[in-house]
Amino acid sequence: MFGQKAAVDKATFRVEGSAMIGIIGRSGAGKSTFLRMMNRLTDATSGRILFNDRDILSLTGARRRAWQSDCAMIFQQFNLVPRMDVVSNVLHGTLNRRSTLATMFNLYPTADIHKAIDILDRLGIADQAAKRAEVLSGGQQQRVAIARALMQDPEIILADEPIASLDPMNAQIVMEALRRIHEEDGRMVIANLHTLDTARRYCDRVIGMRDGRIVFDGTPEQLTTGVARDIYGAGADFSEEATSTEIGAIARSDAAAQLIRKAEAEAG
Ligand SMILES: Nc1ncnc2c1ncn2[C@@H]1O[C@H](COP(=O)(O)OP(=O)(O)OP(=O)(O)O)[C@@H](O)[C@H]1O
Ligand SMILES: [Mg+2]
Repeated sequence: MFGQKAAVDKATFRVEGSAMIGIIGRSGAGKSTFLRMMNRLTDATSGRILFNDRDILSLTGARRRAWQSDCAMIFQQFNLVPRMDVVSNVLHGTLNRRSTLATMFNLYPTADIHKAIDILDRLGIADQAAKRAEVLSGGQQQRVAIARALMQDPEIILADEPIASLDPMNAQIVMEALRRIHEEDGRMVIANLHTLDTARRYCDRVIGMRDGRIVFDGTPEQLTTGVARDIYGAGADFSEEATSTEIGAIARSDAAAQLIRKAEAEAG
């Protein structure tokens, strides 16, 4: 709850085994809040999240931190340290299991450094390892962020609009990397996605959110244009290629048009 408003309300879903799941819905639907609750970055007022019988919302202290390292998070803006080199950024993924002293002096075990390079290599960017993060392209930076997440060896990767700032080619590279990590490592991936076609193309399952609720939960095949229009609460001018932000704007302009019609009707 944020004040009187429930950003996520009665959202129930169940996952058996591992899956790659896309969450869609227009701007403000509650997608980010939902991910942040799973990761315990935002506290839920009520409800339950269970992971293999672990009651996530009741975890405190070290157990909560252990859970946060089990479900790594990736953001739209990469959240790297721009002036720091790529390997050190990746090694930051081990922070929550290192001592403060080791962190202060930037001491990393050799094994961790090798692991970081191996992960970068797997993502096709080992040649960038010594560069400062800020000189890399957006797509490369997002792969560094994925590498940092993998450094934690997480069971789940939560990605909040991982490709929203990327051009189409880099977006494809990043989505393919996430898909490969899911398939090869069996890690669960849950990604908020701002376009319908990305969710359809890369995910086994799509969850549609509207006003904090789950209004669709099914396969890409079940996600027809009609269903999508309903999820986004968009009018007849709904376009399959539109992004959630655009649809948010369209829906708002629908609402504005309605207000104008109402005012006109009242005026006579
Ligand atoms: N810290 C906060 N304080 C108050 N309200 C908030 C806060 N965070 C989110 N909200 C509200 O909760 C609702 C859901 O927000 P959320 O960011 O989860 O939506 P979203 O689906 O991720 O949207 P977008 O596609 O724009 O990222 C919105 O109405 C938002 O204004
Ligand atoms: Mg969001």
